[in-house]
Amino acid sequence: MKFFVDTADINQIKEAVAWGICDGVTTNPSLVAKTGKSFDAVIEEICEVVDGPISLEVTATDFDGMMEQGRALAKTKDNVVVKVPLTKDGIRATRAFTDEGIKTNVTLCFSAGQALLAAKAGASYISPFIGRLDDVSNEGMAIIDDIVTIYRNYEFTTEVLVASVRHPMHVVEAARLGADVCTMPPAVLDKLFKHPLTDIGLARFLKDWESVPK
Ligand code: G3P
Repeated sequence: MKFFVDTADINQIKEAVAWGICDGVTTNPSLVAKTGKSFDAVIEEICEVVDGPISLEVTATDFDGMMEQGRALAKTKDNVVVKVPLTKDGIRATRAFTDEGIKTNVTLCFSAGQALLAAKAGASYISPFIGRLDDVSNEGMAIIDDIVTIYRNYEFTTEVLVASVRHPMHVVEAARLGADVCTMPPAVLDKLFKHPLTDIGLARFLKDWESVPK
């Protein structure tokens, strides 16, 4: 399973890249707004340090506007993936981008039926938001299970990108179900490292090492 980081913060991205486990980056308008920088500045910074797929979202909601913004974003760097919302215009734009050879990430997916639409339109990635489903008492991971099964049934090439991830068990469950990608906030990536027995074990090794004759 590929690991993407879900942030527009360049320092957090650099840290994950330095660990050697960052396969790509996903952003959205809210994450860009948090940086306090212009979208152009954020794009430039991220493109400089990331070689894997970088999802950059359009903010237009009509087909023509999405096409104009998406084509401009795709020109920035070869690895840019245009993120479009799962609306009628978004699905139409996804098909058009696919036909033009532009990669897409269809976002704001909350059902397996919506994921089918994205696959039919030739999306490169589908982003089901599992945390937001959990927030409204729906089992987010259930749709990952459904989508992975449905895509396999018909050999769709759209990759399942698990988004709106809130804790390490979301990552583990996504991997267990065979999702292609999990995009996670840096805090979740950080938590994946943690285990008290690792800390205790390391402290004991170092303590015992002190008694080894030098
Ligand atoms: O990038 C989309 C998604 O990961 C957002 O997550 O935590 O705002 O629901 P969240």
